[in-house]
Amino acid sequence: MPVAPIAFGPTLADLDARGLRRQRRTMRRGELDTADIVLDGRACVDFCSNDYLGLASHPQVVEAFIAAARLHGVGARASHLITGHQSEHEALEQELAAWTGRERAILFSTGYMANLGLVAALATRESTVYGDGLNHASLIDGGRLSRAALHHYPHGDVVALEAQLASQESGRALVLTDGVFSMDGDLAPLPALARACARHGAFLAVDDAHGLGVIGDTGRGSLEHFGLSAAEVPALVGTLGKALGSFGAFVAGSADLVETLIQRARTYIYTTALPPAVAAATRAALAVSIDESWRRERVLALTRRFRELARAAGLPLADSETPIQPILLGTAEAAVHASRKLLERGVFVAAIRPPTVPAGTSRLRITLSAAHRDADVDGLVAALAGVLAAP
Ligand SMILES: Cc1ncc(COP(=O)(O)O)c(C=O)c1O
Repeated sequence: MPVAPIAFGPTLADLDARGLRRQRRTMRRGELDTADIVLDGRACVDFCSNDYLGLASHPQVVEAFIAAARLHGVGARASHLITGHQSEHEALEQELAAWTGRERAILFSTGYMANLGLVAALATRESTVYGDGLNHASLIDGGRLSRAALHHYPHGDVVALEAQLASQESGRALVLTDGVFSMDGDLAPLPALARACARHGAFLAVDDAHGLGVIGDTGRGSLEHFGLSAAEVPALVGTLGKALGSFGAFVAGSADLVETLIQRARTYIYTTALPPAVAAATRAALAVSIDESWRRERVLALTRRFRELARAAGLPLADSETPIQPILLGTAEAAVHASRKLLERGVFVAAIRPPTVPAGTSRLRITLSAAHRDADVDGLVAALAGVLAAP
């Protein structure tokens, strides 16, 4: 009898042959307020987390989580539209709306679901979705789910986007972009994108997963950095599992946008609400991120320190001023080899390979956090210089 394949497409053996099989490692934290971890039994410093402000283990955040779990239990027990929407969710949505300067915000259980829900709720078969070539997978998948016509413009190329928008025949146009690109750390050209959208009547949605909490004079992200208003960027996606050290995501925008998502976003309607204790912990994290603005200054100072030392050591830096600092190595094998050698030196930096990044651009994706010590960054650069200099 013929055996049915587990899946069509590349087999596990194909992935092995191309150096593309992904591997999980089991991580245990060391001291909670540092980036020290133990990975598969080996002590090392973590340079991969998105906990940019070091809030995931902040005592106030942890206490808020415990107190809310005692009060509300662990699970939300139902979806938001049934009985899952609780006072902590409601309060967090209002605080996120105020923080981002928008009429309303709506919580999603993950950033992946927020993007899927947003794009599939706003675009239909009659729409056209335009996305930056390096957008996060969840924006791409949202476009696919919507069944709209999909176009990708070359990374950051607003002129190419304008040409696409100008040749659009009819229907609604939706333009999607990361604010800070997750694997490259560079910023989208948001002012030019907003002008292009205004000229062509297109709706602009920005996923600022890696900008919120980190950039902008007061940590309000890429839109604050560029001085853009809610009218210029009508939909803003933020994630809670990165700079805020918690879990979940939100979309912020006009009251009508949020009401539309409540009615139409299937990843909002057909799923259990976030645990209320997660919402409570996120409220605490948001307050701490505002009160302890030194955390943002610290991670940006560490970023500058890394870049100065790396430049002096002759390392190939990318054009990024954010805590995401990729080192492009080209082949998947080169990136995996460098990652393995770094781990031997007590530094963990994951190798990022296709399909997460385009073929030929495999890299080490370094991220910095306020939880790092100066000595961690110095050790990282020394380890990188040693590993990348070796034949
Ligand atoms: C730009 C971007 N958007 C969305 C997501 C998804 O967020 P989440 O991890 O909350 O699903 C990520 C990363 O995970 C991201 O980098």
